[in-house]
Amino acid sequence: MELTYRPRRLRRTPALRAMVRETTLAAADFIYPLFVHEGAEVEPIGAMPGANRWPLAELTGEVRRAWDLGVRCVVLFPKVAEGLKSEDGAECFNENGLIPRAIRQLKQEIPQMAIMTDVALDPYSCDGHDGIVSEEGVVLNDETIEQLCKQAVVQARAGADLIGPSDMMDGRVGALREALDDEGFEHVGIISYTAKYSSAYYGPFREALDSAPRSTSSKPIPKNKDTYQMDPANSREAITEAQLDEQEGADIMMVKPGLAYLDIIYRLRNESELPIAAYNVSGEYAMVKAAAERGWIDERAVVLETLLSFKRAGADLILTYHACDAAAWLLEG
Ligand code: PBG
Repeated sequence: MELTYRPRRLRRTPALRAMVRETTLAAADFIYPLFVHEGAEVEPIGAMPGANRWPLAELTGEVRRAWDLGVRCVVLFPKVAEGLKSEDGAECFNENGLIPRAIRQLKQEIPQMAIMTDVALDPYSCDGHDGIVSEEGVVLNDETIEQLCKQAVVQARAGADLIGPSDMMDGRVGALREALDDEGFEHVGIISYTAKYSSAYYGPFREALDSAPRSTSSKPIPKNKDTYQMDPANSREAITEAQLDEQEGADIMMVKPGLAYLDIIYRLRNESELPIAAYNVSGEYAMVKAAAERGWIDERAVVLETLLSFKRAGADLILTYHACDAAAWLLEG
């Protein structure tokens, strides 16, 4: 055949392929989510093989391991004791709560690591919702934001670098920015869960924290988070959320989950110049682990290909439970 263009010419050798590679992965792209608890043991999480609930005594070691592999940011999630949960989630702004203590410890022992937090009430709510649930079963917006502001200020005071509101209340980014600035934390950034969908992919995470919506009284508790998290059917709405977050002062925008929402990452990339993060969530992790355990897929190849796809879609950062494994694989080359 007389072909002018033969795209295979540039695929012929590893050197040529490396020269024209458009997207790369680096350990510094990863944000490593860690679960912490009050117990003394490292507790494996059933649906997330390889992920654990860490006691504070073991936490620094795991964070140091991540740092040594090139990871530069961790995000902390608390497994809160049932007795500390309440309707208004007030434990979330206890200066001596699990998260503020974890942050202070890490800032003391490994100050070079960036620390991101999660801002929402669900780990602290006896109802398992990200906000306060009214007697009528409505997740209250403005009342919840007051709690979130107190939570964020406590996290910032403990030393957090990036505050991550995952609650999807309207107007929370602006309110958090103001609350942080009022307390002298204008240097603390906001990584907003901008387009967070009401997704079944969060199942293993809710198991890890025992934080699924549930009814403990006669109050009607919504069984899902559809009145605040986004409808998976919607894409234009993500642009609206992005515009609001940007106006309100978000520093980084996040899309969550990641894999089923690559189109949303791509759309936000074209709409905004802010850095974009993708959250490769617990259910995505569990599926890969389950198939790999059965020998049905090659875990290393599938994980690296998946993480690369987030970058290709337009993400700068990836929250992933695979962070340390992937960083180690990248070092092996
Ligand atoms: C809490 C929160 C959730 C996740 C991160 N922050 C769960 C939820 O919204 O129900 C999910 C993370 C994951 O599945 O890996 N607001």
